Amino acid sequence: MNFLKNKEAFYLAFLLSFPTLNVAGPLHAQCRLEWTFGISCFDVYVTLVTQIKLWRTDDNCKQGGERCLYELKSANEHYVVAKHTNMIHQYVDDLTFKLIPVQEISCRVVAFSVSEPWYVVLDDGINYCNLHNLVEGSALDLTPGYSELTNDFQCTQYSSANCTIY
Ligand SMILES: *[C@@H]1O[C@H](CO)[C@@H](O)[C@H](O)[C@H]1NC(C)=O
Repeated sequence: MNFLKNKEAFYLAFLLSFPTLNVAGPLHAQCRLEWTFGISCFDVYVTLVTQIKLWRTDDNCKQGGERCLYELKSANEHYVVAKHTNMIHQYVDDLTFKLIPVQEISCRVVAFSVSEPWYVVLDDGINYCNLHNLVEGSALDLTPGYSELTNDFQCTQYSSANCTIY
């Protein structure tokens, strides 16, 4: 408890010491978004897990980008947990995907990515790209009824994210 309080105080002091820092989004680098897919949650789960495993090594980043170094921690058709190590900054982001069946053949996914180091405030949209790249790489964004919902308040630097780089 004391530790938390100290950490929060320190963090606040850190923010206040940069009065020009534009904190338009979350106070910590993170991203929360919602996807809808017109396929079953089981199919979404299998596709996501397959993509995470495909991008386990750094092979896919030899030409740049961050579509590599994913690590699956646990998975079932309701909940997927993974990590992503950033090639450029070397820190780790924690990823969770909550899969919620909607009616017969549609799946809503609440996805969250957050940077582990407490001091990461701005991330160039990396936490957004952590999530979005998986969907684009696996072509889940081409499934019928696909939509993605988020904004700058839920995803750090969402509107300036360039997922070709990150
Ligand atoms: C994103 O970055 C790539 C690689 O540097 C660049 O070619 C592309 O134009 C950028 N896209 C946007 C929208 O800025």
